[in-house]
Amino acid sequence: MKILILNGPNLNMLGQREPAVYGRETLEEIMGRLASEASRLGVEMICEQSNAEGALVRMVQDAVVEGMAGIILNPAAYTHTSIALRDAIKGSGLPCVEVHLSNTHAREVFRHKSLTAGVCIGQIQGFGGYGYVLALQGLYEYLKARPS
Ligand code: DQA
Repeated sequence: MKILILNGPNLNMLGQREPAVYGRETLEEIMGRLASEASRLGVEMICEQSNAEGALVRMVQDAVVEGMAGIILNPAAYTHTSIALRDAIKGSGLPCVEVHLSNTHAREVFRHKSLTAGVCIGQIQGFGGYGYVLALQGLYEYLKARPS
């Protein structure tokens, strides 16, 4: 089972970026912890990060061709703006779990709305980097339970 882990803009700066909001862990450290959980579950994970909306859309499109079973996505700021990413997720037909490190509902009003969450099977937020582990467990159980 192959799962795409897709991280959006500015998440490459984790560790240095607003540590009071996002913590001190780097993206590499967060993905390292996730890799341990993936290997425990017997899942192959492919990690990508881009600051560009079009590149993220393309990676969602390619996930279908590459035979991914599902996607874990932190669209970062594109969560709140990107109809293109929403359409790509919907069009892929792949189950997607949206992750946010912070609890966006406890932050500025413009972060309360997610354009992407409505085309995802679920959303996890507010648990820092551990949210990716929770998302993987949820997606894995969803895929196992789904009739083939
Ligand atoms: C974020 C929340 C977004 O509002 C913000 O633009 C990010 C990170 C999070 O993981 O908490 O870049 O997606």
